[in-house]
Amino acid sequence: MQWRRRHCWTHIAALISLLSFAGVLLFLRHHSTVWDWIGRRYNPVTYSTHGVQSSKMEANQSALLRYGWKEAGNSKGPLRPEVTSSLDKDSTQGLENSLGSNSSLSGEMTATRTQKVESYAYIINELYKCQQRDPFLVLLIAVEPQQVEARNAIRQTWGNETLVQGLGLARLFMLGLKEGSQGVRNSRLQRSIEAESRQHRDIIQQEFMDTYHNLTLKTLMGMHWVATHCPNARYVMKTDSDMFVNTEYLIQKLLKPSVPPRQNYFTGYLMRGYAPNRNKGSKWYMSPELYPSERYPVFCSGTGYVFSGDMAQKIHQASLSIRRLHLEDVYVGICLAKLRIEPVPPPNEFLFHHWRVSYSSCKYSQLITSHQFHPNELVKYWDHLQTNKQNACTNSNAKGHG
Ligand SMILES: *[C@@H]1O[C@H](CO)[C@@H](O)[C@H](O)[C@H]1NC(C)=O
Ligand SMILES: *[C@@H]1O[C@H](CO)[C@@H](O)[C@H](O)[C@H]1NC(C)=O
Ligand SMILES: *[C@@H]1O[C@H](CO)[C@@H](O)[C@H](O)[C@H]1NC(C)=O
Ligand SMILES: *[C@@H]1O[C@H](CO)[C@@H](O)[C@H](O)[C@H]1NC(C)=O
Repeated sequence: MQWRRRHCWTHIAALISLLSFAGVLLFLRHHSTVWDWIGRRYNPVTYSTHGVQSSKMEANQSALLRYGWKEAGNSKGPLRPEVTSSLDKDSTQGLENSLGSNSSLSGEMTATRTQKVESYAYIINELYKCQQRDPFLVLLIAVEPQQVEARNAIRQTWGNETLVQGLGLARLFMLGLKEGSQGVRNSRLQRSIEAESRQHRDIIQQEFMDTYHNLTLKTLMGMHWVATHCPNARYVMKTDSDMFVNTEYLIQKLLKPSVPPRQNYFTGYLMRGYAPNRNKGSKWYMSPELYPSERYPVFCSGTGYVFSGDMAQKIHQASLSIRRLHLEDVYVGICLAKLRIEPVPPPNEFLFHHWRVSYSSCKYSQLITSHQFHPNELVKYWDHLQTNKQNACTNSNAKGHG
């Protein structure tokens, strides 16, 4: 009996400690800062060079899947055609074929006459962000509603509005409504987003479902916002929430506040000669009904493109008569083709990357975009760059370029 009772107590003690352990876990789960802290500790910064190659290759692969390639003649492998201009005869013809029966690019590009162009109401808007001063640069950042960590990381790194002394910088996150849930407008997530917006004043949101296939709507919301509420912004960058952006370098190297403002300007990582993916099984399938042409016009990778403020209104205007396609970067390329404005290559090929460049303070002090960053990593690399950007390329690990 004595033994049995003691045995019973040990079981109860074991049970209690198990329960308290579960309690601690639950506590951690609900206190994301602690959770983050753990995440950070086990997410050490790596400096591999192996990573660049493979991720660049993956980026190529994924571009190939998304957009396909134009096969040239009897060559076996995929090949990029030499296109001297996105508006050369062939591709212009292609666009016309795809976008309307009429043979004039500036004429009917789409079936829009018979198609209603959707427009969505703002749920959250920022009406006065540009009232005090016209920003030199507006950052339009596509982000999903639930990605609050990504927004916070961007706020304290490359999207910090006080980063660039003497120049107005305006940061704006672009959101749709969270997919799936019932009564989204009253959900807990939606209420927390509205609180976040009141605190930071950097969110715009429209009433469309926030899905991969609706990214074009998100970009058009950004264009509409700039055109309507910030029409005198000098430059605009559209980018994504998992990007590393070297805002200072973008301004100094590319936009150069001292030179006269450009107009009809559009640049980024140029995608030339890509063809629609016609594989029905693919996530990136593009039906010939939606886009009959054999080739997309030149466009800039949606991971990060930059344009002069006047373009926002022009692109938005053009979009009103162009059938919506779900690939937002291709779609903006089509708008540009219709406007007969060709994206220009950046001053050197090491500025915009749509894959992840392995980190070194030298490389990162001389690039504008790098892809695939977890919020924790973003903060880490950013902090490292800030403390090492002076003379970043003069020490021994400097493998400079450009
Ligand atoms: C990716 O594609 C570009 C352009 O076709 C090519 O120059 C580059 O070598 C490719 N990179 C890799 C890692 O395959
Ligand atoms: C194309 O449209 C223009 C006016 O937008 C018209 O003058 C021209 O005749 C049309 N061409 C064809 C082939 O339908
Ligand atoms: C933004 O940058 C300024 C100046 O470098 C700094 O004082 C401030 O703390 C930063 N803001 C955030 C949210 O990190
Ligand atoms: C895009 O959003 C609209 C409006 O909420 C919705 O009806 C539609 O299903 C969404 N499309 C996709 C492809 O998610």
